[in-house]
Amino acid sequence: MSHSLVRRAGNAPVKVEVKEGEIYAWCACGRSASQPFCDGSHVGTGLDPLVFEAEKDDEIYLCTCKHTRTPPICDNSHCRLDDKT
Ligand code: FES
Repeated sequence: MSHSLVRRAGNAPVKVEVKEGEIYAWCACGRSASQPFCDGSHVGTGLDPLVFEAEKDDEIYLCTCKHTRTPPICDNSHCRLDDKT
């Protein structure tokens, strides 16, 4: 994935409840208006959402800055971003 095409959608993770066995599509392009999930806005960018299945009922923190090295989970990379715009 070319990171130059990726937009930052936020500066902090979003806590979400996931259900075991459910499929989720995390926005990887940063264009979705339904952060942190995909709304189809990536179409035409060459980027795709990261689709994952929840392994258990859980509360997880999904990245919105799109700089995490462990997508879709926040790894606190947002804390190292200088430009908060
Ligand atoms: S919100 Fe992206 S690493 Fe935390």
